[in-house]
Amino acid sequence: MIMAMNDQAENLRRKIEVRRNFRQAKTIAIVSGKGGVGKSNFALNFSLGLTLKDKKVLIFDLDIGMGNIDILLGKSSRLSIVNMFEDKLSIHDIIETAADSLSYISAGSGLSDIFTMDKANFDYFTTQFEELASGYDFIIFDMGAGITEGTAHFLMATDECIVVTTPEPTSLTDAYAMIKHISMKDSTIPLRLLVNRAQNRKSGIQTGNRLQQVVNRFLDRELLQLGVLPDDKAVVQAVTGQSPFMLYNQKSNVARAMVEIVDRFLGEKDRMESTTTDSRSFINKLKQFIKER
Ligand SMILES: Nc1ncnc2c1ncn2[C@@H]1O[C@H](COP(=O)(O)OP(=O)(O)OP(=O)(O)O)[C@@H](O)[C@H]1O
Ligand SMILES: [Mg+2]
Repeated sequence: MIMAMNDQAENLRRKIEVRRNFRQAKTIAIVSGKGGVGKSNFALNFSLGLTLKDKKVLIFDLDIGMGNIDILLGKSSRLSIVNMFEDKLSIHDIIETAADSLSYISAGSGLSDIFTMDKANFDYFTTQFEELASGYDFIIFDMGAGITEGTAHFLMATDECIVVTTPEPTSLTDAYAMIKHISMKDSTIPLRLLVNRAQNRKSGIQTGNRLQQVVNRFLDRELLQLGVLPDDKAVVQAVTGQSPFMLYNQKSNVARAMVEIVDRFLGEKDRMESTTTDSRSFINKLKQFIKER
């Protein structure tokens, strides 16, 4: 009898332990209307900023054929998401590590479109992905510019999107078009705006506010401000040196601004902790979209 009670207590203790260790990865897609606005650099350095705050982060390069996260890291990856499908590898086999604790998956090439994969591949992807969700705090998707029917489904399944724009009018109009497209499909997915390459903080904030107002007024939805990154030659130097600017030059304006952005982002996240979605929502939503196709 006493033995049984001890066993029960032991079981309960184990369950509590498991729950305590159970992470719920938040999935975040980094998107833009126009290309070349700084998505990949933002995705990589934001992810690094999160790891510096002891978060477990996986950056997933989904710009198939054009991906360059590994180049920005100065790595030549052996395996990519394409190998996972073609060689039926486990997702854990294709995860690489950089800068001590950042995990990443390379985009690879040869697969024209993983977003329109057949059922067998899709099922394989979802089972593999489900395994990941409990191992990370954040899974960050670096997407290609613009939106296709296939990427739209994928985007809608993520917990939130970060839209990157520069202050240039062409970039802003394309960002607006992107936000409109996403909003027409799903008006509830949280959208945050990152203004990159601002001439100064004040003008960057003004740019963000203007786009926010237009989105509020014409699309009747909220656009949260993630922050502003300055135009900084340290970015070009870091890219040339194949090292993320957060490591290459920690004292640069852009690296300091990123630290602020990460701090604010995590502060907000903590406040919103009680309203987080369940860990499987990404896969569940993705399944739903595939069914409706
Ligand atoms: N804050 C910045 N300050 C100065 N230059 C920048 C900044 N951000 C990006 N750049 C420049 O823009 C280039 C493109 O950046 P990046 O590759 O991150 O853009 P992207 O949006 O991912 O492009 P693509 O749409 O092709 O994927 C960088 O190589 C760098 O030269
Ligand atoms: Mg890119």
